[in-house]
Amino acid sequence: MEQKRIMAGTERKRQMAAEVAETYSAEETYALGRRIGEQVSPGEVYTLSGDLGAGKTVFTQGVARGMGIEEAVNSPTFTILQIYDSGRLPFYHFDVYRIGDVEEMDEIGYEDYFYGEGVCFIEWAERIREILPGRYKEISICKELDKGTEYRRITMEEKGI
Ligand SMILES: Nc1ncnc2c1ncn2[C@@H]1O[C@H](COP(=O)(O)OP(=O)(O)OP(=O)(O)O)[C@@H](O)[C@H]1O
Ligand SMILES: [Mg+2]
Repeated sequence: MEQKRIMAGTERKRQMAAEVAETYSAEETYALGRRIGEQVSPGEVYTLSGDLGAGKTVFTQGVARGMGIEEAVNSPTFTILQIYDSGRLPFYHFDVYRIGDVEEMDEIGYEDYFYGEGVCFIEWAERIREILPGRYKEISICKELDKGTEYRRITMEEKGI
């Protein structure tokens, strides 16, 4: 009985793991990313989903800055992966928008990054869902045009806990 009650508590916690933030400009999204970047830990994998132009790269640029990376960060759309070694931890920025097949991830040796000591941010991660690790943090960025063209709702949720 006691055990069951504890389980129920854990279950509730799991449902409450989502955090929601609202931003009203690219600068605010960058600042939110920067705060996350100051807190990331080795081995963490973050996925980013949201439409074209939602703000996934802006958010990631903030994260990189928060990790102490000062060089320019741009979407690695044509290369899939860009590695930054100048921050507090290795930073692996994936953009899998143009991936044809998940086998392309094998070719770049993704497991070394997903299960390494650095931090991964993966734009368009829903395209490689089958190879995502058992635990990751999902960031979803949504526009709501009735709240203005620069409004974004950003949800952060732990998956697989
Ligand atoms: N609140 C906001 N947060 C983030 N970006 C915003 C916001 N308001 C306006 N923007 C603009 O939206 C665009 C977001 O572009 P960004 O490249 O980050 O999108 P993306 O999700 O990475 O797109 P893609 O799928 O093409 O990679 C930028 O031009 C930015 O200035
Ligand atoms: Mg992008």
